[in-house]
Amino acid sequence: MPTPRLTELPDAALRLIEKASGPIVDVGTVHAGLNSALAARVQTSTDTLFVKGLPLDHPRVWTQKREADISPYVQGIAPGLRWHLEADGWSLLGFQYAEGGHADFTPGSCDLPAVSAAMAQLARVPAPAVELKAMEHRFRGYVDDPSDLSWFAGNSLLHTEWNPHNVLMTKAGARFVDWGWASTGAAWIDPALWLLWLIAHGHTAVQAETEAATHPAWETAPPAGLDALARVQRRIWDAIADANPDDWAKPMQAAARTWDEHRNARP
Ligand SMILES: Nc1ncnc2c1ncn2[C@@H]1O[C@H](COP(=O)(O)OP(=O)(O)O)[C@@H](O)[C@H]1O
Ligand SMILES: [Mg+2]
Repeated sequence: MPTPRLTELPDAALRLIEKASGPIVDVGTVHAGLNSALAARVQTSTDTLFVKGLPLDHPRVWTQKREADISPYVQGIAPGLRWHLEADGWSLLGFQYAEGGHADFTPGSCDLPAVSAAMAQLARVPAPAVELKAMEHRFRGYVDDPSDLSWFAGNSLLHTEWNPHNVLMTKAGARFVDWGWASTGAAWIDPALWLLWLIAHGHTAVQAETEAATHPAWETAPPAGLDALARVQRRIWDAIADANPDDWAKPMQAAARTWDEHRNARP
């Protein structure tokens, strides 16, 4: 379930940020994203930060530590982490603020080559010595045949959450944020998960696979593994859409159905 976003930074969080970065000059609201209890642009006299946070007793507070752990490995692909604080009831991450809008995933968008290039850069990062979820484990509840899970295993570092709100288009290229669900698995899984978001933004399944194929790992994707992933994604997005009374997941549910029908429909 999405975490409700606070409209103002609580005093305890403000005090922690000031202790780490000095006096705050201005705070701006950040609306995008679903998981953080607080997310803000914080201006100090010397720096502009993006700060996200969860209460320490939040069930997903582990994602904050995961983001902090991953940060040193994804320099140049993600905005740098200035600090991770856990105190006074809050887990806070302070990042370098990345100026740029969210990526445009519609067909023909000039953001797509830059996103694919940054994904290719990520594909060259060796899996870090950090505790990460494994894709075959994340998908274990969504297969009929447990042997399907073996397609997803691998040692590549994967971002996995390709919502365009997690992709900022900066002057220096695409930057990926929100690494709390970073995982290990087969290298082709990231472009394959990306293509679902492309379908949700207007690509046909064939067009979306053509974009995904610009990623260097796509050629290593076994067709039967892609078929299995399409079945898994359809189940996952059906479950997410059922669990969320508002409609935010509906376009992804439709996209996952489109891709599954493209991969697995038999005449
Ligand atoms: N370093 C950053 N610089 C500028 N904006 C950011 C930065 N990181 C995230 N954002 C913006 O804040 C939003 C929420 O951050 P994100 O890490 O995705 O949190 P959530 O877990 O709530 O989705 C993003 O969708 C993006 O628009
Ligand atoms: Mg996000």
